[in-house]
Amino acid sequence: MDEKTLHYGPKTDAYYERLRKVFLWPTGDESRPVLSFGKGARVTDIDGNLFSDYSSQVGVINTGQCPEKVISAVIEQMKYLTGVLTNDWQWRCQHENGYLAGQEVSPLRLAEELVRMAPIPCPQMVFPEVSGATSVDASGYIALASFLKELARDPERKKFAAFHGAFHGRHGLAKDISSSKSIHKLLHVQGYDVARLPFPVRGTPGLGIYHGYMDQVRAILDSEDYKDRIAALFVEVVQGEGGVNIADFKAMSMIYREAELRGIRFIVDEIQTGFGRTGKMFASDYLSFNPDAIILSKALGAGFPIGAVVTRTDILPNGFPHGAHSGTLGWAPVSVAAALANIQMIMEEKLVENARLMGGYLLERLKKVFWKNKFGRETVERIDGLGLMIGVHFYFGKFAEQVVRAAAAQKPGLILIGAGINTIRFMPPLTVTQAEIDADMEVLKRALDTLS
Ligand SMILES: Cc1ncc(COP(=O)(O)O)c(C=O)c1O
Repeated sequence: MDEKTLHYGPKTDAYYERLRKVFLWPTGDESRPVLSFGKGARVTDIDGNLFSDYSSQVGVINTGQCPEKVISAVIEQMKYLTGVLTNDWQWRCQHENGYLAGQEVSPLRLAEELVRMAPIPCPQMVFPEVSGATSVDASGYIALASFLKELARDPERKKFAAFHGAFHGRHGLAKDISSSKSIHKLLHVQGYDVARLPFPVRGTPGLGIYHGYMDQVRAILDSEDYKDRIAALFVEVVQGEGGVNIADFKAMSMIYREAELRGIRFIVDEIQTGFGRTGKMFASDYLSFNPDAIILSKALGAGFPIGAVVTRTDILPNGFPHGAHSGTLGWAPVSVAAALANIQMIMEEKLVENARLMGGYLLERLKKVFWKNKFGRETVERIDGLGLMIGVHFYFGKFAEQVVRAAAAQKPGLILIGAGINTIRFMPPLTVTQAEIDADMEVLKRALDTLS
C-alpha cells in the first residue's frame, strides 16, 4: 500500500490490488473509497464504511444517489425502447407507470423542456449529445456554422477564446480551450488556435477598476492574431476544476458587450454549474444578459450519460449543415427518461431554492469550522461560493490534500474533492438538509482535530 492510500478495509485493499493490474485509470486515486451503495447524499463503500458525499460525483448527482423518481422512470422506459440512434430515428412513448406515468417521453419533449428553461434568446434549438466534452465540441461547430458564409471567404475565422483556468473537457476542441491542468495537454495535439483571456474572479483587488481589466481583454481580442478571427468565447460563470473561481458578473457583462460588438458568440459551459447547483437553475441566470448558447451535461441525466447544447438559432441563417456533425448514442432512451424525471424532480422538490438556502447555511458553517479551530486563519485564505458550489481556498495545496484524506478517514466520513491547486470543493446533492450539514460539520471538525 503506498503512503497515499487510506485503509478502508480488506475488501477495498483487495479490490485496488485487482484494479491496478487491469484498469487503465489515468485520474485514479486510491485514497478514495470504493463505493457500492448510495441513497441521497449518503454512500457506503464495499467495506461497509459510511460517507456523506460532498462532491456529488463532481456535480453529477444533484438529485442524490438513486433518486426513486428517476429510477422509476428509467425502469419504465426499459419496457419500451433502450437503443435508438437519436440523430437518425425519432421515437416517442407514453409511460404507463412510474414517476412519469401519463407523460410523453421522447427526445422532442426533452428538447422542448430545455428550450423552456434555458436563459437563451428565442428562437432556440437543442443539439443532443452524450457527454460534457462532446457537447462542448458540438457547440464549437455550431458557432462555426453561424459564420458559414464568412468562413468561405475567410477560413481564418476558426479561432476560439477561453479563460485562464478554464476546464471544458478532455477531447478535441474541449481540450484545446481548457487550461486548468497542464498535464491534460501532455498527449494532446492542439487543433484550434485559442486566445486566452484573464478570468475576472469576483473580489479580485483592482478588478473594481474594470477599465484596466477590460483594456487587457480588448487588447487580446483585437490583437493581430485574433481580430475578426474568433468564432466563440467559452465561459464558466463559476470555474469548477480551475478552483471554484466565481466570476465578477459586471465584468462578464462588459466582456459580453465586447464579444457582441465583434460578433463573437458567447457560450456558457453549464456542465458543472447547471441544474440548480449555484442556487439558480443555471449560473447564467445570474448574468444581466442572455448568452448565445449554453452547454449542459452532468446533472442533466442524474448519472445517466447525456449532454446538450441549447443555442439561439437566429445566429444560424444557414442552419446546421446536414450531416456536418452527429453521433451514435446522442440521447439514449434511458438517459432521456432519466433527464425528464430529474428535471421534474428538481422543480417539484424546489431543489434550486434549497441549494440557495442550504448553500448560504453551509458557507457560514464552513467559515466557523475552518476559522474557529486551532489553525485559525493561518491555513485558509478565503471561503466563498454560489449556492451549493463552495470553495475553501487554502494557502497550501498540501494542507488541502490532508483535509480531504482526514475527512475521508472519519467514521462516518466525508467525501471531498479538490479543485485547482489549493482549493477543496463543497458541493453536496441539492437535497441536503440543515440537519445533515450540522452532522457533517461535526465530522469535519473531528477531521481537522486529527491534523497537526
Ligand atoms: C465545466 C466543465 N465542462 C466540461 C466538462 C467535461 O465533461 P465530461 O467529463 O463529461 O466530458 C466538465 C467535467 O468536469 C466540466 O466541469
